[in-house]
Amino acid sequence: MLKKLLTPLKMGNTTLPNRVIMAPLTRSRAGQPGDIPNALNVEYYTQRASAGMIVTEATQVSRQGQGYALTPGIYTDAQEAGWKKVVQAVHAQYGHIALQLWHVGRISHSLLQENGAAPVAPSALIAKDAQCFVIQPDGTAENVPTETPRALATEELPGIVEQYRQAAVRGQRAGFDFLEVHAANGYLLQQFLSTNSNQRTDAYGGSLENRARLTLEVLDAVIEKVGAKQVGVRLSPHFMGMDIADSEAEASALYLAKAFTERGIAYLHIAEPDWIGGPELTAVFRAQIRAAFNGVLIFCGGYTADEADALIDQGTGDAVAFGRAFIANADLVERFRQGAALNTPDRTTFYGGGAHGYTDYPVLDLQPA
Ligand SMILES: Cc1cc2nc3c(=O)[nH]c(=O)nc-3n(C[C@H](O)[C@H](O)[C@H](O)COP(=O)(O)O)c2cc1C
Repeated sequence: MLKKLLTPLKMGNTTLPNRVIMAPLTRSRAGQPGDIPNALNVEYYTQRASAGMIVTEATQVSRQGQGYALTPGIYTDAQEAGWKKVVQAVHAQYGHIALQLWHVGRISHSLLQENGAAPVAPSALIAKDAQCFVIQPDGTAENVPTETPRALATEELPGIVEQYRQAAVRGQRAGFDFLEVHAANGYLLQQFLSTNSNQRTDAYGGSLENRARLTLEVLDAVIEKVGAKQVGVRLSPHFMGMDIADSEAEASALYLAKAFTERGIAYLHIAEPDWIGGPELTAVFRAQIRAAFNGVLIFCGGYTADEADALIDQGTGDAVAFGRAFIANADLVERFRQGAALNTPDRTTFYGGGAHGYTDYPVLDLQPA
């Protein structure tokens, strides 16, 4: 019997009907041209509206912030209008939805950038063994190694913050309940946070406080536009993909968690590293994060319903996000309620394609009570 997972949760000014959060999931099916959410994307998110809250797939805040072809953006009028349709459809099903704001930094390629520019990063250091996804001039879509980025000048950083600010304005106009700043998984903000990828000597590099500066400036810009109660942040301490190796990962996360508390943001979303080969987070660190942050704390990564329920019951976190389970089970909450078996996700249809593997997983045959 689940004790807590299916109970309501107050978050910001909103009450979520349950604590089963849909994790952000890149599915590479945005409408083309223009990376615009389309009718198929509306259907996909609407099917999953019974989640306590949906976090959208990572959504680039600018063309510069894109690292994979076919991911959606939130920097043009058409993209904003596309997202508005997603939000309206989810709200019509009484769902809640957050937009994940994304800048990939060095996880990109000149083929994705305006005028073939180099990707940007805190320092001109390539992400070894990292890949991005491009469409070649002849139309072939393929994974390719990322390119060596150009280090952002100090004077350019207000422009980066501005990209997030504008994206937040568009996100709010589209009607999102929350905006999630993506500071996880090796993208721009984590590149600034991490000791190995940030070799800067200005006010954005060196000390932990300096490395965290851009994340907090971005957060403050988003808060300024939408208010702290509508904002969340995703962090992935100890994440080791994308050539990230942060020797101060825990101290940095704790410093940020305290800064988030001071700002009164709605939630902190911890993407755990172990599902992708990183270490397990320790109980001590989880308790420290819990003590440092006073908003809603969400954990994500490899959970079953029982494990998630126990985590919440023990007070370690308030909610749990599910990724791959939501890909394959639009009615995940109902399946948890019934203790029903789950469909198995098909990895071959995770990224790209059409309705197959996206909107056509079977759902439970609900009998009227
Ligand atoms: C296909 C796929 C796409 C993902 N896309 C994103 C993303 O856009 N943003 C993000 O923060 N995490 C992303 N993740 C990570 C998930 O949000 C989540 O942390 C991970 O799947 C572990 O949770 P799970 O074991 O419940 O699947 C992705 C994971 C998968 C499998």
